[in-house]
Amino acid sequence: MAVPLLDLTRQYEALREEIRQAIDRVCDSQRFILGAEVEDFEREAGAALESLHAVGVTSGTDALLVALMAIGIGRGDEVVLPTFTFFATAGVVSRLGATPVFVDIDPVDYCIDPALLRESISERARAVIPVHLFGQAAAMDRVMEAAGDVPVVEDCAQAWGASFNERQVGSIGAMGAFSFFPSKNLGCFGDGGLVTTDNAELDRSLRELRMHGQSGPYQHPVVGGNFRIDALQAAVLRVKLPHVGAWIERRRANAERYRELFHNAGLEHTVGLPVAVAGRGHTYNQFVIRAPRRDELRAYLADRGIGVAVYYPLPLHLQPCFEGLGYHEGDFPIAEQASREVLALPVFPELTERELEEVVRAIEEFYAN
Ligand SMILES: Cc1ncc(COP(=O)(O)O)c(C=O)c1O
Repeated sequence: MAVPLLDLTRQYEALREEIRQAIDRVCDSQRFILGAEVEDFEREAGAALESLHAVGVTSGTDALLVALMAIGIGRGDEVVLPTFTFFATAGVVSRLGATPVFVDIDPVDYCIDPALLRESISERARAVIPVHLFGQAAAMDRVMEAAGDVPVVEDCAQAWGASFNERQVGSIGAMGAFSFFPSKNLGCFGDGGLVTTDNAELDRSLRELRMHGQSGPYQHPVVGGNFRIDALQAAVLRVKLPHVGAWIERRRANAERYRELFHNAGLEHTVGLPVAVAGRGHTYNQFVIRAPRRDELRAYLADRGIGVAVYYPLPLHLQPCFEGLGYHEGDFPIAEQASREVLALPVFPELTERELEEVVRAIEEFYAN
């Protein structure tokens, strides 16, 4: 039996009528840019994320970009971030003319190692970006302590709904950047993103920057861009928002079931299962195992129609575009090892018991040979 890594049609089936009505509402209004739909979404999202302000933007990438612009990151500045993350976390730094400073990860939670972070903050550091990878919060108490006075922008792209010691991610640092890419815990029908903050001045600046730096009609005190979320995306997200908590619970239940199944198969010491660190509210945007002979296993599962993925096969310090920064293989051994071992399994909320069993059965077969 084939098992997809992600099947969004199942979620859509359940919400089809409601979503179509929401889209119709926007079409009937013909208000596509900002307006009431976006304002209502921002208010609802801010409340769900326990942040005073929430600013809808064009993507998770632009959420990070505009957050860094709001704190004035530019040429000569350093921004400190983990090397084991999606490209966007570092790409936005370079696009602003600043220098990404990479840090190795903790082998247990795959997030930035706070002790190494502390050592990597130089006098030129102007921001720190912890990434809540795979849906689990980074060690935010130690990250905040290590960052000191340097502003922290949380990359929450994979972690809507995750928490650290009862606080929602995105409400701990100066700002949080969220992605609504369709595969995320809360996904829209295209690209979308959000920046959260409790700081009214940053909120004002973010709103200005997403409208070409416009403070009033045709007044541009700073250069911004067009980073506005679409009203159509906001309308879709408003339908989905009340369900996201239940979807995250389903992801957690699937993760627990995987643990039982791997245990029953006697595999819990063969594959490294993800660790749900206490107090971190893991949301399992990805269920990532560490697999011996990973690439062989990946091919074996792919042959059987089981959807798996490698996030990420090459840490960012080894990407060709960052060659000029002078990093080398061996600089960040924990991230480099993770990139050779990690494998994401299907964990989306609507996965069935039979599908979960099928995934583990196929992995059991592979290691029996
Ligand atoms: C950790 C991380 N940061 C940033 C992004 C960028 O988000 P988007 O694809 O919405 O631009 C992603 C998306 O996959 C991500 O996983």
